[in-house]
Amino acid sequence: MGTLRVAVGTSPLRSEHERLIRTALRRGDPSPEDVLAGARLEATYSERALRLAREAWRARMVHEHRSAAVFARLLPQLMRAEAALEYRTTVLRMGMDELRHAALCGRVVELLGGVAEAEAELATEPLPDHEDATPREAALRNVLFVGCLSETVALALLAEERELTREPAIAAVVTQLEADEVLHARLGWSYLGELAPQLTDEERARTDRYLRVAFAHLEREMHAAMPAATVDEPTRVELEALGCMLGVEGRALFAETMDAVVLPRLEDHGLAARRAWAERRA
Ligand SMILES: [Fe+2]
Ligand SMILES: [Fe+2]
Repeated sequence: MGTLRVAVGTSPLRSEHERLIRTALRRGDPSPEDVLAGARLEATYSERALRLAREAWRARMVHEHRSAAVFARLLPQLMRAEAALEYRTTVLRMGMDELRHAALCGRVVELLGGVAEAEAELATEPLPDHEDATPREAALRNVLFVGCLSETVALALLAEERELTREPAIAAVVTQLEADEVLHARLGWSYLGELAPQLTDEERARTDRYLRVAFAHLEREMHAAMPAATVDEPTRVELEALGCMLGVEGRALFAETMDAVVLPRLEDHGLAARRAWAERRA
């Protein structure tokens, strides 16, 4: 455990970091960093809503920061799998996006009156190396988990949160996160689209079996990140204005996205996703 901080330092690399944000990682104008500079909340909120929102944005900061390590670890797997160069470059960009997301979430914590720090486990987990699989199949499993599952679901949640958020500075952050997660999800769907037609029957059968494990893991992760605790109606409305959907609603949207988006798309690529979803708890 340690203290996670995501502020930019004062080293000679600072200007390069800022240049990356302005150029390579830019999505639109103005940048959320510019919107946040000197921003204040436009409405007033109860102490309770502010405290809950700070907790939610702090948890997001930790989660986004960890995601950077996931993308960084995809690179050696994609190298081993002989993936085309654009996959290798863009996963590094995605790692940078996630570090930026962590910093943006930290800025929202500050906007809400908190300190952008979190006590968290700073060590990150290695990605599974799937010893029963060929290198391209192993890369496919991890890219599929990250892009087609995690990021595709995150995208649906962010789209909903963007609709609910009432604070312009928070909306700018949610909009940036959403725009970046579109690319992160596309990583999964593009790689799957390329590899699925090439899989042997054995590789496909092993991928189908892996899906059960992946779905169970994803559901555990999503539910852990979205506690089912409820709040009174006025607090719920305040939280939504601050970019935080309730856990119960997030869980429902997760199930809906799996059913309406993820499973049919995986099925379109020839994977037995519906069956794997039904058997995820077996
Ligand atoms: Fe992110
Ligand atoms: Fe992402």
